[in-house]
Amino acid sequence: MAVRWEPVKSGAARRDSRRGAPAVRYHRRMPVRPIVTLGDPRLRLPGRPITRFDRSLGELLDDMVETMDAAPGVGLAAQQIGLDLQLCVIRVDDRLFEVANPRIVHLSGEEGAWEGCLSVPGYRAWRLRAEHAVMTGQDRHGRAVTVNGHGYLARAIQHEFDHLQGELYIDALPEGAEIITEEELDRRHREEEGEGDREA
Ligand code: NI
Repeated sequence: MAVRWEPVKSGAARRDSRRGAPAVRYHRRMPVRPIVTLGDPRLRLPGRPITRFDRSLGELLDDMVETMDAAPGVGLAAQQIGLDLQLCVIRVDDRLFEVANPRIVHLSGEEGAWEGCLSVPGYRAWRLRAEHAVMTGQDRHGRAVTVNGHGYLARAIQHEFDHLQGELYIDALPEGAEIITEEELDRRHREEEGEGDREA
């Protein structure tokens, strides 16, 4: 956070000034940012609306995409890098979405899956979600965007939207729901595969 707003007097900035651009930059790139995990109060802050669609927003989105891809993950909300903003990125099936100020305008159907979160590393829980979700919002330039997804993409839409309200997927589990480690999930999958082999 602190670094983000420090004026940076780099060689590049001085070159800009000769072309008449501002002599300082107010956003130093921090491509891959540390991911905030469960217990950090910043995960619980509802996002403030994005009002300025300027270069620093584009650079922040670039950092969020790099952080998500490096993790690797299928989505990342601003809260997960410690920022209380209405801003998230989603990448599913090589389709990349960047959404500021999102709203969910449609939910239908129901589907269960073992859901996880980069901010709750190493765990999964069986979570019911709408099978179809439509999110609207704005891109880095302030233009309207729509993310319309089924299945995995619908799940990512709902998961990231929850982050922007300061909520985590483990908040809304039904009474007695299982939260298991990824190792346990792998073990169960191997067991199921083993049973499949024996049946074949
Ligand atoms: Ni998450």
